[in-house]
Amino acid sequence: MRRRSWHATWSACPTARPDVALVTGASSGIGFAVARELAQQGYGVFVVAERGVDQAVHQLRQHTAAQVTGLEVDLALPSGVEAAVARARELDVRTFVLNAGVGVHGPFLHTPLQDELRLVDLNVRSVVHLAHLVVPNLVAAGGGRLVVVSSIAATMPAPLFGTYAASKAFLRSFAWSLRGELAGTGVTVTTVLPSATRTPFFRAAKMERTHIGRGPKSSPAMVARRAVEALQDGRAEVATGLQAKAMVAIARVLPQPTRTAFHGWFYAPGAPPPASPATYAE
Ligand SMILES: NC(=O)c1ccc[n+]([C@@H]2O[C@H](COP(=O)([O-])OP(=O)(O)OC[C@H]3O[C@@H](n4cnc5c(N)ncnc54)[C@H](OP(=O)(O)O)[C@@H]3O)[C@@H](O)[C@H]2O)c1
Repeated sequence: MRRRSWHATWSACPTARPDVALVTGASSGIGFAVARELAQQGYGVFVVAERGVDQAVHQLRQHTAAQVTGLEVDLALPSGVEAAVARARELDVRTFVLNAGVGVHGPFLHTPLQDELRLVDLNVRSVVHLAHLVVPNLVAAGGGRLVVVSSIAATMPAPLFGTYAASKAFLRSFAWSLRGELAGTGVTVTTVLPSATRTPFFRAAKMERTHIGRGPKSSPAMVARRAVEALQDGRAEVATGLQAKAMVAIARVLPQPTRTAFHGWFYAPGAPPPASPATYAE
């Protein structure tokens, strides 16, 4: 049975306005699923992505009764972050799901520098920038929710996917630190650690032929449910699903050289794909 959240209680009050949640990277994959989950629970949703926002907004409006609005900006640019925050202020957003992210796969000797730096700009810089702009207002308002979508890749170095894994390790550490600093302010920070999830991410990063690209994956809907439960409970961290929990546990016990090799296997070229793509049941 789903727990009754502070949000459900609050929205039951007839005079209360629904909370509005900004979700970055909500045009597809995990971000879209989180936006849909929040919309189904009565939140207003503010969809932010670089492309495909109109379509996402249309779909959310078709399938939920939520107030949905959108903005197409490049969050890898400071001006994109500033535009998203300006609109979020107008909408009085108190819940921020910082999910937009990309991967760059391949030997560091050969990956284009501009791709690596754009990854850092989006996965790392935009999150710090956005959080820095919104946290003071949330603290002044006495409450808010920040969700940072990291990854189980945060738990181990990843040869052939090194910048990505490092960006996710940054996010995990940053989110925990910020949570510690904000204790007692009413603002919570929740880190989400998904494992491989069935989204356009692997195609975009040209990773379909790797072990992880060809392996079984969680459904974005399940990841979104776990993430939204955790944000509503104000939990520090959630590893979404059994595979994610297992990876976090493995990372804890393996020495650094072993877990680096272990994790690197996932990003190496893999065996041919199964006849139909497998999905973790949960
Ligand atoms: N899929 C997995 O296995 C997995 C596992 C662990 C963690 N994650 C993390 O989950 C998050 C979502 O990934 P996903 O798997 O759902 O992949 P996805 O479907 O490719 O979603 C990425 C989202 O980020 C947006 N985005 C990309 N570049 C952007 C930019 N410069 N400015 C604004 N938005 C931008 C994309 O929008 P556009 O359409 O505009 O590009 C899209 O909405 C990422 O942070 C990823 O690292 C994914």
